[in-house]
Amino acid sequence: MRSVKKTVLLAILASVVLVLALLHSWPTRAYTTVDVWQRTGLLVDKRLEERLPEVDHQLENIPFHVRDNVASLLARNSCVCEGESAGVNLPFAQILFPRVSAQHLHTAFQATQLDEIKRRRAKEYQSFLKRSQTPSDVLLVAEANSPLQYPTQGVEVRPLKTIVIPGLALRDVPRDLHSINITAALGTLNVAAQVDGVRIKGDGEMHMSLSSRLLPNLNRQLQFVTYSNTLFHPSTADTVQIETEGHRAVFTIKIRHGVTPKLYNTGANGDYNITALVTIATKTFLRYDKLQDLIDSIRRFYPTVTIIIADDSQNPRSISGPHIEHYIMPFGKGWFAGRNLAISQVTTKYVLWVDDDFIFTANTKLEKLVDILERTTLDLVGGAVQEVTGYTSTYRQTISIEPGEEDGDCLHMRRGFHHVIQGFPNCVVTDGVINFFLARTDKVQQVGFDPRLARVAHMEFFIDGLGTLHVGSCDDVIISHASKIKLPWVSQSESDKTYAKFRYSPDSSDVTQSKIGLLFFKNRFQCWTHN
Ligand SMILES: *[C@@H]1O[C@H](CO)[C@@H](O)[C@H](O)[C@H]1NC(C)=O
Ligand SMILES: *[C@@H]1O[C@H](CO)[C@@H](O)[C@H](O)[C@H]1NC(C)=O
Repeated sequence: MRSVKKTVLLAILASVVLVLALLHSWPTRAYTTVDVWQRTGLLVDKRLEERLPEVDHQLENIPFHVRDNVASLLARNSCVCEGESAGVNLPFAQILFPRVSAQHLHTAFQATQLDEIKRRRAKEYQSFLKRSQTPSDVLLVAEANSPLQYPTQGVEVRPLKTIVIPGLALRDVPRDLHSINITAALGTLNVAAQVDGVRIKGDGEMHMSLSSRLLPNLNRQLQFVTYSNTLFHPSTADTVQIETEGHRAVFTIKIRHGVTPKLYNTGANGDYNITALVTIATKTFLRYDKLQDLIDSIRRFYPTVTIIIADDSQNPRSISGPHIEHYIMPFGKGWFAGRNLAISQVTTKYVLWVDDDFIFTANTKLEKLVDILERTTLDLVGGAVQEVTGYTSTYRQTISIEPGEEDGDCLHMRRGFHHVIQGFPNCVVTDGVINFFLARTDKVQQVGFDPRLARVAHMEFFIDGLGTLHVGSCDDVIISHASKIKLPWVSQSESDKTYAKFRYSPDSSDVTQSKIGLLFFKNRFQCWTHN
């Protein structure tokens, strides 16, 4: 009797502890939703238009004379595809006088397809622009709270090209002579047209002075001020100073090449064609039985999607079948080396990462993951992995880096996420996810998997990708995990035993040491906190 009471008491005590533990780990924070949809039309643009000062109609009547030599330097809005015409037809002419040739690229497509191809390319490009632009790229003009009006951001020139500097003006200060000085450091200033009654000094140089007795004329002249980049140094900025008596302002002109997009031609519109959009990538090591189960399960749902397998087994077996690419690597090259090789071979817009012991089920709806990447600015979205016990996990992690001093920065990783995604109630924005995810191929290739991480590694990819990858996670796209928990009544297969020997080898403390070493040196962290 006593022992029964004791058991009951113990059971009650245990459940209280369990409930307390659950309550403690339960997320108590209320999450806000965030809108990461790809919008048509930039909101910022509208606000900017409202903020720009009224165009002064008075200025329109002030005459000007175009300077052809400067005006012709101004970047044309559309480039022209033309080469140099052939000169005399001499032997070795091309070697002696190399001639610029031009090639029209649309010839790669049949004329009947071209309209459709152009339309698709335009759609992908618009989506790319929406993902790659930020409010700091938009032109802003500081209105005249000092008499100087000038652009504060968003002025951009391509290397060695010329632009008109937008937004320059001087506002009413009663004066006999109005004057303004402009100074640049990596290029020269000039005027594309000359206005009567304005004195110009230093045109074509880095320091230019403009002065006039008539303020409207000076303002008209300021509309024609050009900047030519003369020092070739892309991805930098020139700091331009503008001065009038008693007032000075500084703004920057970004000098950079346009961003060249990497677009994927994803086929006709309509429903998502997973074969055309997605490649499934995995890395295997010794576990051919598991890999075959994975392939069979994929084929039940996606019979023609390409599967890329990176394999660093000691005695590689052949894996054959339609739409399978099997890449054999030197023995034991490692986990991240394999991931890197696999993603390097992907030619579709998206790549799905899976482990070789995952199993596709009816809940593994790749269409859902494609849909969220197509409709939002996310670069990568994770799903959920279901264990044999029925437990599913998304392994969502937030990552933040706090600046430190000479000792390095601090890396903080916590379970959880930042926001729920508006319109996708099962999806959240976070920084790291489980090893089942769909991602934009070019972004994953850009971050890369560091091949120095040989064995157990995963979050290191998301640490390297912080700031580059915009990450989400959805818990309604689920893949199954073949048994990881060793059940005593199931005997392990030979390959499982060998796999376990390598993956969980006694030298795993060395593995941990080298991982920590990379965080310390490569990422310059001094400390790593996680839960
Ligand atoms: C403009 O620059 C000239 C020298 O080029 C200088 O003499 C003049 O004082 C400057 N004016 C202002 C308003 O800074
Ligand atoms: C899907 O894409 C593949 C590969 O591009 C193509 O062969 C197939 O015909 C497409 N299917 C449909 C239904 O458009």
